[in-house]
Amino acid sequence: MRFDGKVAFVTGGNRGIGASICKRLASEGADIAFIDRAPDPQEEVTKAVNNFGKRAIFYEADVTDKAMIEEVVANVVKELGSLDILVNNAGITRDNLLIRMKEEDWRAVIDINLTGIFNVTQAVAKIMLKQRSGSIINIASVIGISGNAGQVNYAASKAGVIGVTKSLAKEFANRGIRVNAVAPGFIETAMTKALSEDVREKARQLIPLGFFGEPEDVAAAVSFLASEDARYITGQVLVVDGGMIR
Ligand code: NAI
Repeated sequence: MRFDGKVAFVTGGNRGIGASICKRLASEGADIAFIDRAPDPQEEVTKAVNNFGKRAIFYEADVTDKAMIEEVVANVVKELGSLDILVNNAGITRDNLLIRMKEEDWRAVIDINLTGIFNVTQAVAKIMLKQRSGSIINIASVIGISGNAGQVNYAASKAGVIGVTKSLAKEFANRGIRVNAVAPGFIETAMTKALSEDVREKARQLIPLGFFGEPEDVAAAVSFLASEDARYITGQVLVVDGGMIR
C-alpha cells in the first residue's frame, strides 16, 4: 500500500489506459480524482476504486478548458485534502498524411495532448509547490521519439510532452517534485482497436516480444514512477513497448 494517504489526479480516466491507472493507484492505497470530457463510463472506475476501500471523485471536464480545470483542482483539494500524484493521460489521435491533414486536426491534437498538459500541470503544480512534494507522470508515446508517417500532429504533441517533462523536472527538482514520462508502444485500447487488422498485424511484426501491451502494463510503469521506489528518478522517459523502438 505504497500510496496510503495520497491523492492522485488522473486526466482522461474514464477508459483505456487512464481507467487502468486509476484502478492501479487505488489498489495501492491512493484516493482518486479523475476527469474526462466524456461522462461515461466513469461509474465502472468509481466502483473499482471504491472496491479497494478508496474514495473516487469524477469531474466531467475538458483539459483544454483552463478555467474549468482550475476550479476542479481547487475542488479536489477541498474534498480530498491534498494532491500528491498527477497523471496527464488524456490524449487523442487525428491521423492523416501531412498533405491531407486539416488545420483543425493539427490544432485539436496539439490543444489536447500538449496544451492540455500545460493547463492541468499549472493548476496542480501550485498545490505541489506549496506542499514541496509531488510526482507528475506524463503519458507520451513512442511516436514522440521515433516519429510515424501519417501522425505529424500526434508525434509533435508527444515529442512536446517529452520536452515539457524534461524541462519541468529541472524546474521543480529543488522543490521536491519529480516529473517523468511513460512512452507506451502499441497498447490494446479503443484508440488502437479502431485500426484495421492489416495495420495491427504490421504493428505486431515490429514488436520483438510479439504481442500488444495492455493498459495494465502502462499503469504498472506509472505506479512505479509515482512511488518512493523512484525517488531518485526524474526527467526520464520510460518506454513500455515490448522492445519496439530502441
Ligand atoms: P482512449 O481513447 O481509450 O482514452 C482516452 C481518454 O481521454 C478518453 O476517455 C477520452 O474521453 C479522454 N479525453 C480525450 N480528450 C480529452 C480532453 N480534451 N479532456 C479530457 N479528457 C479527454 O485512449 P488510450 O489508448 O487509453 O490513451 C491514453 C493515453 O495514452 C493518450 O495520451 C494516448 O496518446 C497515449 N498512448 C496510447 C497508446 C495506445 O496504443 N493505446 C500508445 C501510446 C500512447
